[in-house]
Amino acid sequence: MEEIRVNLKKTEDKSYNIVIHEGVLKEIPSKLKEAGLGHKFAIITDSTVESLYGTDLSEGFTKNDLENKIISFPPGEQNKNRDTKAWIEDQMLENKFARDSVVIALGGGVVGDIAGYVAASYTRGLPYVQIPTTLVACVDSSIGGKTAVDTAHGKNLIGAFHQPWAVYIDVNTLLTLNDKEIREGLAETIKYGVISDDELFSFLEGNMHLIFSYDKKALTHIIKRGCQIKAEVVEKDEKESNLRKILNFGHTIGHAVENLSEYKISHGAAISIGMVAEGKLAVEMGLWNEEELNKLIKLFNKASLPTQIPEYMDANDIIDTMKLDKKSRSGQIEMVLPKRIGEMALIDKSYGIKIEESLIEKMI
Ligand SMILES: NC(=O)c1ccc[n+]([C@@H]2O[C@H](COP(=O)([O-])OP(=O)(O)OC[C@H]3O[C@@H](n4cnc5c(N)ncnc54)[C@H](O)[C@@H]3O)[C@@H](O)[C@H]2O)c1
Ligand SMILES: [Zn+2]
Repeated sequence: MEEIRVNLKKTEDKSYNIVIHEGVLKEIPSKLKEAGLGHKFAIITDSTVESLYGTDLSEGFTKNDLENKIISFPPGEQNKNRDTKAWIEDQMLENKFARDSVVIALGGGVVGDIAGYVAASYTRGLPYVQIPTTLVACVDSSIGGKTAVDTAHGKNLIGAFHQPWAVYIDVNTLLTLNDKEIREGLAETIKYGVISDDELFSFLEGNMHLIFSYDKKALTHIIKRGCQIKAEVVEKDEKESNLRKILNFGHTIGHAVENLSEYKISHGAAISIGMVAEGKLAVEMGLWNEEELNKLIKLFNKASLPTQIPEYMDANDIIDTMKLDKKSRSGQIEMVLPKRIGEMALIDKSYGIKIEESLIEKMI
């Protein structure tokens, strides 16, 4: 037997900047020209965002003598699939996008995830730029390099890690969102407060009215903190071996609730329910205190996010669904639980805490 070793030491620097600046959307084409990132730009977006911001952005590229093409698909999670990905790739092939091309992901998390995955595989990898236009995309999906599409067997099952070249956030683009979309992003932002920043948590307690009046300063503040927290966590644990798990607070029970509702309950609402349920477990296990849990419930109420598992859901179904979740290892249910607002509990050097099924049953 012969053994040949292929040594691949990771030396590639995958660092990137997140630029948060009001009005930056107009400046992106000239910034990318200056950076000499590529010669041809595929602006991938959905039809809603195309008419709001895509056409202007494309004109900006053209004015800078940069060849570009908008490739847009109908909005919605149901289009985040392999068929849409293949269709986008065919559009790019027919329009002769080659290795000197750049993908621009303009839109919410659906666009970011699919465009990022196209960028990860087109000609074995193209640079891509994220321009998130929803609060979820700003504080969550545009950072961290996880790209994916959904399948009939589950969400986000086919994908790749591919870090963007840069992320540009223009708060002005958020002004066309509705309260429902703001709430989706707020659920993740509240999560950031619990897992890592008590000041952000207090800011949300005191300024919810400003966020729902689309106050740019308040929105910018929560985006900035959200990005910092996610970036910090991802930086320390890019491939989710331990610390990155804290981002899953509320998501173990949340995913099960989302799933059992057949996605009638939105992700933001489901993880709010999940955070409260997992918070109750943390209190029950003596890791967290009830006073802080009540503060969390109050904050969700202020944001009009739900906190109770719907009555029609059965504890055993929730447990079975959690066991099937790709995040649970070998059928054992694992969660991350708070120790105090701003810090997660660490047991035996691990943030992933194994939970007894009987305890969950009792709780639900
Ligand atoms: N990759 C990750 O790490 C990660 C993290 C969190 C979520 N996600 C993914 O993100 C997706 C959810 O993202 P989302 O909530 O942004 O959904 P989305 O992309 O579907 O956007 C929601 C809706 O808002 C519209 N829209 C987008 N920007 C707008 C704007 N500025 N004004 C008006 N309307 C606008 C869209 O057309 C869409 O109809 C899910 O597929 C989820 O799996 C990925
Ligand atoms: Zn989430």
